[in-house]
Amino acid sequence: MAILTPTPRHLERAVAALRAGNCIGMPTETVYGLAADARRPAAVANIFALKGRPADHPLIVHLAEPLQVRDWATRIPRAAWALAEAFWPGPLTLILPRRDGVLDAVTGGQDTVGLRVPAHPVAQAVLRAFGDGLAAPSANRFGRISPTTAAHVVAEFGRRLPIVLDGGEAPVGIESTIVAVGRRGARVLRPGIIGAAAIARVAGALDADRRSPTPRVSGSLKGHYAPRTPVELVPGGELAARAATLRDRGMPFAVLARSELHGAHGLAIGRSARDYAHRLYAALRELDAGDHGRILVEAPPRGPAWAAINDRLARAAAGSGDDDAS
Ligand code: TXA
Ligand code: MG
Repeated sequence: MAILTPTPRHLERAVAALRAGNCIGMPTETVYGLAADARRPAAVANIFALKGRPADHPLIVHLAEPLQVRDWATRIPRAAWALAEAFWPGPLTLILPRRDGVLDAVTGGQDTVGLRVPAHPVAQAVLRAFGDGLAAPSANRFGRISPTTAAHVVAEFGRRLPIVLDGGEAPVGIESTIVAVGRRGARVLRPGIIGAAAIARVAGALDADRRSPTPRVSGSLKGHYAPRTPVELVPGGELAARAATLRDRGMPFAVLARSELHGAHGLAIGRSARDYAHRLYAALRELDAGDHGRILVEAPPRGPAWAAINDRLARAAAGSGDDDAS
């Protein structure tokens, strides 16, 4: 296992591994990805084997630049180009009608494909040198917390993944906003740091029709992004009382709080949504590793800036403490 600094020689080594059909760990601005050649069935099969992910869950194809979308998607609506222009390179994934020849293993057998142009300089360097699409789910085992550092990726896969490029802490910290663009308009399938209002400003009114076909999004499973330790979401005003109750009962716990730890063991995490997102997964991993019995999370505000964070926390709470969160 090697964590490689992204020198020109190491980048060459990573790209050679990709050309040989192997997976690498690759930083993006959202979270680290487990990347492999999206055109090659055996390479894509390696991703599923490493992650332990069910075969019908589609993968996002990462591209160096927006025009490459034409190699993967067809009948691209104007709103999709507008979103690409506004937010790429960046933390946005577009779900578009797929072109013939895109692997079923990548699309999960659906007639759409997920595409993203990441902004992270290391991802950009790899994609440019590679020259075509790289399928890359978050580099965690299925159902687990997404990695935001190279060390997290090593913790997930150990020696089974020989190359992880080190791009430092992923700046955004949570996964990309996923938007499906269809005839009835754009729909946000997974909230992210680019909010629904920003999407609507560019793409026009969002499609809120419940009858619109819903593609499979594994991030939409209830118990995703889950620590092994049970996670309990506690409204801010009730944190001190809940901590006192657990202490009285002799039940061990740690706290993930936005400001005050109320004398409990734990971590204080950012007051702004951006800072919170940046640190969330690393904080959950750290508390999960500490064998605390339970993690009390002070619930953040409900406003739109916090939508993606509340989404991930709800899933973490729903799937936690269960070793086969799926
Ligand atoms: O920020 C991100 O998106 C990260 C980095 C590595 O790019 N990737 C990521 O990939 O989060 P993954 O595989 O962990 O989550 C991708 C999500 C899944 O929930 C999958 O179901 C959805 O994208 N997806 C991919 N292709 C799709 C499609 N054709 N239709 C609907 N959902 C799709
Ligand atoms: Mg994932």
